[in-house]
Amino acid sequence: MLTGSKVLLRPWTPADAGDVFAACQDVEIQRWTTIPSPYTQADAVAYVSEVAPALWAQGGAVFAVIDRATGALAGSIGAHGIRDGVAHVGYWTVPAVRGRGLASDALRTLTGWFLREGGTARVELVVEPTNAGSVRVAEAAGFLREGLLRQRLVLRGRRADVAMYSMLPTDIAAAGL
Ligand SMILES: CC(C)(COP(=O)(O)OP(=O)(O)OC[C@H]1O[C@@H](n2cnc3c(N)ncnc32)[C@H](O)[C@@H]1OP(=O)(O)O)[C@@H](O)C(=O)NCCC(=O)NCCS
Repeated sequence: MLTGSKVLLRPWTPADAGDVFAACQDVEIQRWTTIPSPYTQADAVAYVSEVAPALWAQGGAVFAVIDRATGALAGSIGAHGIRDGVAHVGYWTVPAVRGRGLASDALRTLTGWFLREGGTARVELVVEPTNAGSVRVAEAAGFLREGLLRQRLVLRGRRADVAMYSMLPTDIAAAGL
């Protein structure tokens, strides 16, 4: 369990399946992330019961984001397939909590943990420049924009440019983490 100022990050449990199913019906999550679309109840059950534990077993770190104000599920954040000391992070929040700083707090909390205690050399994330909310989350968390990777991402058959953002252990102080 990791504690931020506004969120707690904890591993997924099978009891989260209903909330994950409901959250993943959101058009913005389906538009900007690689979750299955359409997203079924079976997808949610498989994610919390099988996929998430398997990702941990493979060296990933995937968390439910809990709103400290209510105790409710606020979102998802995590990294898959951490290799060569590089963690590649992705996230979403449920529509009802957006704009309250929970995604940026989750990103700061996870990044601080990776860089301080995870032995991670670099935390990176890729964001489509047109995804204004996610660009703000990356910047609010103190990530540095390194450049534009042209046509790097394929999302549901659509190929897109993405901005590459990163944070290194040497950036922690400047980011206030
Ligand atoms: C992007 C997303 C995670 C943002 O979640 P959130 O909980 O609203 O984020 P925060 O409240 O931490 O917002 C951080 C900043 O972004 C701003 N912001 C959030 N959504 C925004 C939007 N759609 N347009 C412009 N600014 C936005 C907030 O006002 C805040 O600004 P501030 O730092 O000046 O206060 C959420 O909208 C989402 O889940 N989108 C769909 C999935 C997705 O895009 N995932 C990322 C893929 S790279």
